[in-house]
Amino acid sequence: MNILGIETSCDETAISIIAASGDTEHCTYDVLGESLLSQVDIHKPYGGVYPNVAKREHARNLVPVMEEALRQANMLEEDDRTTDEATIERIKTILGREPELFTMLAAFLRSIDKPPIDAIAVTVGPGLEPALWVGINFARALHEAWHIPVVAVNHMEGHIVMAMQKSCERRDASLQENTGIQTSESSSRRWKLEAGSYPALALLVSGGHTELVLMPALMQYPLLGQTRDDAAGEAFDKCARLLGLPYPGGPEISRLAAHARQTQPPLHNPGHRKSRLTGLTMFRVSEDHDSRLPRPMIHSKDYDFSFSGLKTAVRREVENKALGDDEKAAMAREIEDAIVEVLVAKTKRAAEEYGVETIIVGGGVSANTHLRNELAKALHPLIPFFPDPALSTDNARMIALAGYLHATREEFADPESLKAQGNLKLA
Ligand code: KG4
Ligand code: ZN
Repeated sequence: MNILGIETSCDETAISIIAASGDTEHCTYDVLGESLLSQVDIHKPYGGVYPNVAKREHARNLVPVMEEALRQANMLEEDDRTTDEATIERIKTILGREPELFTMLAAFLRSIDKPPIDAIAVTVGPGLEPALWVGINFARALHEAWHIPVVAVNHMEGHIVMAMQKSCERRDASLQENTGIQTSESSSRRWKLEAGSYPALALLVSGGHTELVLMPALMQYPLLGQTRDDAAGEAFDKCARLLGLPYPGGPEISRLAAHARQTQPPLHNPGHRKSRLTGLTMFRVSEDHDSRLPRPMIHSKDYDFSFSGLKTAVRREVENKALGDDEKAAMAREIEDAIVEVLVAKTKRAAEEYGVETIIVGGGVSANTHLRNELAKALHPLIPFFPDPALSTDNARMIALAGYLHATREEFADPESLKAQGNLKLA
């Protein structure tokens, strides 16, 4: 089955076309074509993503991104038996709020034949609603033109399935095993879904979400706990901003923290009860380690998180100071340590309490090397499933793959009643 996945929930406009086969337990797929345009450089000056700017950019990008994906898949057939004008008129109504997208799509549909796609999978939430709507209306317009069924996909389920796939071309596996270096296999064309054994625990960490999900079986997602305020990725981004680092802050903090770990002494400072920078009281993390930053809710009995206090503590540490490069790197390491320690502690406790057999880690923050290393150490002998580093952040392949799983169960949506759901929960 050929699936065209569409992702526009945040600041990446992405389309992926996969050819998938097998049932949900034994699924393999080939990547036929995919394209992604990131808006990061446009949002960078604002230090975050502006929903209406994201919406405008998605509307501009979707047709060229789809054209590139179809071209790679050898599905761009120029033909004169193309979409008729009555259909184009109906599409104009569907894209009434995206006139620029309509103009580009109409020109495209007038010259290109229907491609051999069996289902269109589109993100309906969670995410920024104005951004989600562009992708949804685009999917509805394609359905109108090509009469292809549509699957509504939850973005977070996409992150989960991305962590569960393995490349069938493990060229670099020995290098990875011998050196611990994370190699990206994202250029592999053939992949398979590892079904895993259940119950499984999924830790979802992205710019908008921090969730622990207990999966009694594949595609079942009861929630154990979630953040009460900022998400882990949001904490990385906001703390990075306080350090004067560009958006998105996660990779920046991670880079500086790695540098600090290599070049600065380990953080063993018993007895030092005052921060060097501010003279403020330190937080006791363990017998031999005090930290400038708190580990919010690390000992709470539930599986909820709270990261907003971290940003306040960082602000107190750095406010009105001109930090040198080494001090910035030291603070980046403290921030990464604080976030990672909380995520690892709660994941480990949930894994033990529920006797899980598989751990799945998904979302943009799962690209973080320190988080990967610490989770792997803490959960041993379980080996957590992580997405390929290059596929950790938002992409459309995850939407196409999750869409395929629902399509095999014939879970199609009524395109007319599709809605953007900013706070959509996993069910
Ligand atoms: O899943 P994602 O691409 O978008 C959302 O669905 O939100 O996640 C983006 C988040 C951003 O907050 C970004 O700073 C964070 O993932 N992120 C990282 C790393 N790479 C991306 N955080 C920590 N370390 C990284 N290496
Ligand atoms: Zn995401």
